[in-house]
Amino acid sequence: VAQTVSFGVVQQPAIVAHRGASTDRPEHTIGAYELALKEGADGLECDIRLTRDGEIVCVHDRTLLRTSNGRGTVSALTLEELRKFDYGSWHGYREPAELLLLDQLLELVKGTDVQLFVETKHPVRYRNEVERKLAEALKRHGLASQIVMMSFSATAVKVFREQVPDVRTVLLLDRLGRLRSGALPSFADYTGPGVHLLRNDPGYVDRARRAGHETYVWTVDTAEDVALCRDLGVRYLATNAPANTRRLLTAN
Ligand code: G3P
Ligand code: CA
Repeated sequence: VAQTVSFGVVQQPAIVAHRGASTDRPEHTIGAYELALKEGADGLECDIRLTRDGEIVCVHDRTLLRTSNGRGTVSALTLEELRKFDYGSWHGYREPAELLLLDQLLELVKGTDVQLFVETKHPVRYRNEVERKLAEALKRHGLASQIVMMSFSATAVKVFREQVPDVRTVLLLDRLGRLRSGALPSFADYTGPGVHLLRNDPGYVDRARRAGHETYVWTVDTAEDVALCRDLGVRYLATNAPANTRRLLTAN
């Protein structure tokens, strides 16, 4: 079985907290990310969208329905309107929480060695405005080496790369399609297959490595999936439960 080896030591995948420690805290809240850091996550993942007035907020879904007590579409509301809602009480943890801005996450990782994986949502419909705004925010914060930009849209990754060539990028994959061979487009540094793809085709990670790149795999929470990613030598593993995944990774 292929594994990443340096100086005789098997390198474990880096643990990326998917939407924060989102099993135990409401996703995309500052509490979820603070818990992830406390649990020793190597990286944090977030999804971003633009508000009607062009601010970058961390919300996964197009609408507010699932993760807040509000209603409506994120892109149709202003920051002020979005801030009126509670983003915490829907979760089993049942504590109110505020809307999270990308700026807050950039401040959270500043001065640490934690990497922030930022996924842009619905970029094409908004003419890649979210990628351009993300590029501006990163230039403002000066955090290029700690940030990884991600998208399922090849166009989005390409547009972003043109704006800030020194920030690493992941082309996310929900099917391998024409990249099955391990090929990597020139504007991406990693591919990001869902773990379901590796269950069917574990050889992909090795093909990608032979083609010259490492893989970011999402979303890895079960003992079987964690063992699969570890044994294949996946570089980054996104999980909703960082502490439990660390425990599974280090268990025999
Ligand atoms: O980390 C990539 C993964 O988050 C992509 O799927 O729907 O959870 O954003 P989704
Ligand atoms: Ca995501």
